[in-house]
Amino acid sequence: MPSLTAIRALNATLKRSTSHIPVAIFVGGTSGIGQGMAEIFAANTKGNSHIVIVGRNRTAAEKILSSFPKPDSGSVNREFVQCDVTLMKNVHQATTEILGRYPKINYLVMSPGVATLEGRNETAEGIDKKLAVHYYARWKFLRDLLPALQKAKDEGEEVAVMSVLGPGYGGAINVDDLALKKGYSLSNVALIAPTYNDLMMESFAVQDPRIPFIHSCPGFVRTPIATSSTSWLLRKTSGLVMALTRPLSVSPEECAQYMWYGINSTATTPGAWRIGEKGDDLKKKRYFGDEEQRTKLWEHTTEVMMGALITS
Ligand SMILES: *[C@@H]1O[C@H](CO)[C@@H](O)[C@H](O)[C@H]1NC(C)=O
Ligand SMILES: *[C@@H]1O[C@H](CO)[C@@H](O)[C@H](O)[C@H]1NC(C)=O
Ligand SMILES: *[C@@H]1O[C@H](CO)[C@@H](O)[C@H](O)[C@H]1NC(C)=O
Ligand SMILES: *[C@@H]1O[C@H](CO)[C@@H](O)[C@H](O)[C@H]1NC(C)=O
Repeated sequence: MPSLTAIRALNATLKRSTSHIPVAIFVGGTSGIGQGMAEIFAANTKGNSHIVIVGRNRTAAEKILSSFPKPDSGSVNREFVQCDVTLMKNVHQATTEILGRYPKINYLVMSPGVATLEGRNETAEGIDKKLAVHYYARWKFLRDLLPALQKAKDEGEEVAVMSVLGPGYGGAINVDDLALKKGYSLSNVALIAPTYNDLMMESFAVQDPRIPFIHSCPGFVRTPIATSSTSWLLRKTSGLVMALTRPLSVSPEECAQYMWYGINSTATTPGAWRIGEKGDDLKKKRYFGDEEQRTKLWEHTTEVMMGALITS
């Protein structure tokens, strides 16, 4: 594993596009790792890239977007798409908007997160909020934007998809209760969402075997998730937790460097990938799931999406 300094420097030696301006979408790019990945992308393309941030906080997004370097010449897009991703209807609207403007997409990075200590809380669409953000919304972004990713691939450009959650931290899932309506507990949600992400990436890799679909683990990052949490307890204790764990954790920028390393230097061939906190290949370490579960999860998800989009 190269050092962080080496990874930062390595970037300079990578071959990069000269023929096209790459397009990158960062869902959850208003803070934490998503923000870090957007900033690194902007810096390393020297501003010669189109960047879309999807999230809730417009003030944060505009501040981040305006900090990016300007391109050498011509104009590039710096765009914010406002979206509360707990609702699939909102995701649908966001992807329609994005597709309308970007028929071709090179990078899709998804890292929206919620930290809560509350129990099951359903959205108006009947989906558990935590699962909506950690799984269903990501599935829908990927599903809807896939044609644009494929178009970039068709034209011989670089393409990668990354969902930042937690490969290696998942657990066994129950195909008879995929929506977790019966067996809800916070530890259940925490355990199944990573497994769903593994299975999701495998399904998409079957659909398009030319693209790397990466599920990555951020490790222990000092993100603002806990401080913006709706939970009183988590909010009250996060400062202390941060202080105590600081020596063990990495900054969002450091984590984002490792994540890009994972995209550019580890996941160099198409297929489903599980990438660790240093951008390393986790292979099947602590992997749960099988082909039957993969198929059932896909069917379940398409049903949930149809249901969500017709309720209002
Ligand atoms: C990455 O590479 C680009 C292009 O060579 C360079 O301008 C940029 O400073 C590098 N970024 C870092 C963090 O080293
Ligand atoms: C690799 O990662 C950087 C972000 O550091 C990005 O700007 C670059 O275009 C990526 N892809 C390639 C093929 O170098
Ligand atoms: C939105 O972002 C701004 C700037 O980073 C921050 O000051 C503000 O607290 C954020 N608002 C919410 C609701 O998180
Ligand atoms: C569910 O979420 C709503 C809106 O965010 C919140 O007001 C409510 O307290 C939550 N309920 C539970 C049981 O957590």
